[in-house]
Amino acid sequence: MSLNDHWMQRDLAVLWHPCTQMKDHEQLPLVPIKRGEGVWLEDFDGKRYIDAVSSWWVNVFGHANPRINQRIKDQVDQLEHVILAGFSHAPVVELSERLVKLTPAGLDRVFYADNGSSCIEVALKMSFHYWLNVGQPQKKRFVTLSNSYHGETVAAMSVGDVSLFTDTYKALLLDTLKVPSPDCFYRPDGMSWEEHSRTMFAHMEQCLAEHHQEVAAVIVEPLIQGAGGMRMYHPIYLKLLREACDRYGVHLIHDEIAVGFGRTGTMFACEQAGIRPDFLCLSKALTGGYLPLAACLTTDTIYQAFYDDYSTLRAFLHSHSYTGNPLACAAALATLDIFEQDDVIEANKALAARMASATAHLADHAHVAEVRQTGMALAVEMVQDKASKAAYPWQERRGLKVYQHALTRGALLRPLGSVVYFLPPYVITPEQIDFLAEVASEGIDIATRESVSVAVPSGARVDFRDPG
Ligand SMILES: Cc1ncc(COP(=O)(O)O)c(C=O)c1O
Repeated sequence: MSLNDHWMQRDLAVLWHPCTQMKDHEQLPLVPIKRGEGVWLEDFDGKRYIDAVSSWWVNVFGHANPRINQRIKDQVDQLEHVILAGFSHAPVVELSERLVKLTPAGLDRVFYADNGSSCIEVALKMSFHYWLNVGQPQKKRFVTLSNSYHGETVAAMSVGDVSLFTDTYKALLLDTLKVPSPDCFYRPDGMSWEEHSRTMFAHMEQCLAEHHQEVAAVIVEPLIQGAGGMRMYHPIYLKLLREACDRYGVHLIHDEIAVGFGRTGTMFACEQAGIRPDFLCLSKALTGGYLPLAACLTTDTIYQAFYDDYSTLRAFLHSHSYTGNPLACAAALATLDIFEQDDVIEANKALAARMASATAHLADHAHVAEVRQTGMALAVEMVQDKASKAAYPWQERRGLKVYQHALTRGALLRPLGSVVYFLPPYVITPEQIDFLAEVASEGIDIATRESVSVAVPSGARVDFRDPG
């Protein structure tokens, strides 16, 4: 038995994996990873894979980065963890100071959580609670975009709209208002991203005009709807949304959990619209992909609405045991150092251009509807019919075929349904980008070559998306 098989068998005897139909592993081998270095992951049999999806979009400076490793090692000898209520520590203070400095002016307070979903819960609760504290208890609904994803906890699912993740739990969810997304995939032929996103704003304007008195906040994934298939839109939408939120007295929550820290080409996506949200949610790349940590930044106005004598019960009594963990903060500080010292945002421009040139030919593929890109995120959408952009039935799991092919070639490319995407660590080389493009092209050829016959039960959902 190979070492991979040994670990796979032990794993499958006791683990229940995230976002996985475990029965798939009767056919699909699990890949046990022994070590990582830079963009590479290495399994127990010595096979290496380029991590093209940054291990669920978290890793920006490679696996086992010596600079981040050292900072964590230094911190672990000093202080591994301490309760953050009533106590504090140097890494959390330094990190908060740096985040306040780095983000748009006016985001002056940092509240920590320990993963993206719980950070969304913080923002939603804080917004609702703010309106309660200022005497507007009727403002308790949230507006969200179609095809959004904000995480897996119940309130985060409520503001999400990827049916694969939320439909089953409908009975548990909050009553939210959903507005059509500015997603440019469906723009009419010849229309620019800007024009389409601007046109789509009319739906949001109408929703806010009708409902603003009962709305606490609008929540968006700025510029890229990640789990919804890396669908993209123009910054003009965020600018118009900021203006409308101001006009209607509604908070704006930017979920930059996936897109923050350089992914869209600027440090934060909101910079491209020149705006400041009322809540900025950060996680994932915040620690370079090392440890779970999330930060919800907000304004002094919001903070002051909670600041009062204890007996008024206006405080935000929300906590997670690992809030502001010192090891995670140390990893985040090392990550911010690398951004600063290596001028990463500037250096990424050449890598983003290489991603574009290496994949440009795919736009001509008979089963590719679009190759789209925002900064360091590039997506290729496979379709059954190019002219109408008709999707493959989700049951055919075309993306899974690309995934399986990529594994044989030494790449971790995990599509979202029929969307193959690159979201690589920023330490990838131009040659490695070319290699990924080659593997993706081969995978797309294989996945779209044959007709696939799958039993589709009558009445099955057609708009579902398989995560690949
Ligand atoms: C935009 C966005 N928000 C929130 C989350 C949830 O973060 P986590 O998986 O850390 O709970 C994700 C995760 O992919 C995300 O992409």
